[in-house]
Amino acid sequence: MADAVGNKVAKDYHLDVAPPVDGFFAKGLGHTDWGMKNRLSRLFNPKSGNSLMLAFDHGYIMGPTAGLERLDLAIPPLMDEVDVLMGTRGAIRSCIPPTCGKAVCLRATYDSSVLYEDMSVGNGLGMDMDDVLRMNASAIAIQTFIGAPGERDSLETLCRAVDEGNRYGVPVLGVTAVGKQMARTTEYFLLATRLLAELGASIIKTYYCDDFEKVVAACPVPIVIAGGKKLPEAEALTMAYRAISDGARGVDMGRNIFQSTHPKAMCQAVAKIVHEGYNDREAYEFFLEASNA
Ligand code: 5RP
Repeated sequence: MADAVGNKVAKDYHLDVAPPVDGFFAKGLGHTDWGMKNRLSRLFNPKSGNSLMLAFDHGYIMGPTAGLERLDLAIPPLMDEVDVLMGTRGAIRSCIPPTCGKAVCLRATYDSSVLYEDMSVGNGLGMDMDDVLRMNASAIAIQTFIGAPGERDSLETLCRAVDEGNRYGVPVLGVTAVGKQMARTTEYFLLATRLLAELGASIIKTYYCDDFEKVVAACPVPIVIAGGKKLPEAEALTMAYRAISDGARGVDMGRNIFQSTHPKAMCQAVAKIVHEGYNDREAYEFFLEASNA
């Protein structure tokens, strides 16, 4: 362990210094293999460097969430607007046409349902890499519970998934879940995101928080934000805009899209922020116009 004597007390994230560019557009991933880079280039648009992921993996712990009662009706109309479809193998196989041409991020863990007393307990790898490859997935999402009773098991799952992913060139998206007992503080997200990156995750999904640019700076690989509970559209667009302005490389959003009054317009408005440099006001104006079209 580092010697406590002589250490710097204040942390300095060097926000004015850009991360190194090592021959590949995605931060910290320049030394990975061709197959991994090819998959990353399907997840993130190499031109903008960013990604809009549509998350509809809620059913694997919550059952039929509002807006996702019928996956076959909710998701296909939104597919063309996003870069990545993020769901379980069951949802994707049954409801998404294989001709969709979109990158897939498979939710590859099983976790306890919302009925269980502690959702962090009882999690593990929910599928084999054979099936990940059979589905031609571009990434697998692994849920982790830092600071909760299920922390150790979920980190074991993450490490094994990274080993398997590295073997076959499949990036792992490490998800920092926040259960009831976990504080959503900057310190928490600094710790959780860094921990998953150091354990080998290629992309980190986390929540937006104060001083988010520090969280981004201290994380050696790209961060995408989760949407979280449904907000009014203008607020959700502001959150997406702030996250991208602070250095997030994408938005992995679910309820704020499929629970919107106009899911397709909302998807398009978020894409304007993620790929086209719109600010939140411009994106909201776009949303209002597209909703009335
Ligand atoms: C929580 C998750 C989700 O299951 C989901 O992807 C979140 O989507 P949203 O919060 O935008 O509805 O990853 O850890």
